[in-house]
Amino acid sequence: MIEAINLKKTYHTKVKKGLFKREKDIVEAVKGINLRLEQGQIIGLLGINGAGKTTTIKMLSTLIKSTSGEIFIDGVEINENPLKIKQKVNMIAGGERMIYWRLTGRENLWYYGQLYGIPDKVLKARIDRLITLVGLNEKQDVPVERYSKGMKQRLQIARGLINNPDYLFMDEPTLGLDAPIAKEIRAYIKKLAVEEQKGILLTSHYIHEVEELCDYIYILDHGEVILEGTAKTLSESTFETKITVLELAEINPAIEATIQKFALDEKAVIHEQTHAHIMRFESKNELTESLVKLIHSEKLPLSKLYVEAPKLEDTIIEISRRVSI
Ligand SMILES: Nc1ncnc2c1ncn2[C@@H]1O[C@H](COP(=O)(O)OP(=O)(O)O)[C@@H](O)[C@H]1O
Ligand SMILES: [Mg+2]
Repeated sequence: MIEAINLKKTYHTKVKKGLFKREKDIVEAVKGINLRLEQGQIIGLLGINGAGKTTTIKMLSTLIKSTSGEIFIDGVEINENPLKIKQKVNMIAGGERMIYWRLTGRENLWYYGQLYGIPDKVLKARIDRLITLVGLNEKQDVPVERYSKGMKQRLQIARGLINNPDYLFMDEPTLGLDAPIAKEIRAYIKKLAVEEQKGILLTSHYIHEVEELCDYIYILDHGEVILEGTAKTLSESTFETKITVLELAEINPAIEATIQKFALDEKAVIHEQTHAHIMRFESKNELTESLVKLIHSEKLPLSKLYVEAPKLEDTIIEISRRVSI
């Protein structure tokens, strides 16, 4: 398990002011983050640009040192035994950095494997396996410059696995990829957690990606976790009301009047819909039971009846609305 406790990062930079003057500038990029990641789990850091996602992931992957706070990886503090930690983690940045265009996919992996000092025989077997895992068998001996974007990103994933880490950090893994390729990459990420039991932390500014992939989500803003939970609990804690949706096969003025009366009795608000036969009731409790009774007694032509789960996107919009008020 990875545990980060009160993690902070402050950057001290110098900003040019005029011709000779330089002013010190202090940026508190991460202001005390706590998080946990277990093997086999995917967690997500979600936030807009500048929220502190990359800084957090860089501290966890030992690329930069934290200003304060602690990180434990399987019980070992990361500054205590850096060599051991480096065997356990790896990071994949989005985009096309970290791969050599003139080299083939296999040569790239070989190069990175050498950096970890992996014995040749072990490395060869591992590369064989990784190439199969990310589906690059046919293109392994082709220079990377001839790869598609999706293939390059899959090679990045293989590179991130070259030291056989237990934990993998992915910074915006689908940034700049077309929707079908992004979908394919998400499938590989899921596979790594489920089949390989890797603990995966990914950052994204893309809500749907985080909602689809992550078991647990941290929402970052200005270097702080402003909310955390599963997609479901985040939405539930934000929305105190429930939405029950009733779809009828047809609608007429008599039915409409019945529905209006029902809403009044139940203290529910009916939301406007593009189709008159679909009604969304917002109320304190779910209305399925009382609607079933109504459908029965009034013989309404039922088509569908369900409770709508709030989407994470709605949650975030709702949270930012509340913060800005
Ligand atoms: N090397 C650096 N030096 C100074 N400031 C930095 C540096 N890296 C990031 N920052 C600042 O830290 C804040 C968080 O950045 P970052 O972690 O990259 O956010 P995100 O990945 O969520 O977009 C931003 O205000 C950014 O400008
Ligand atoms: Mg970033």
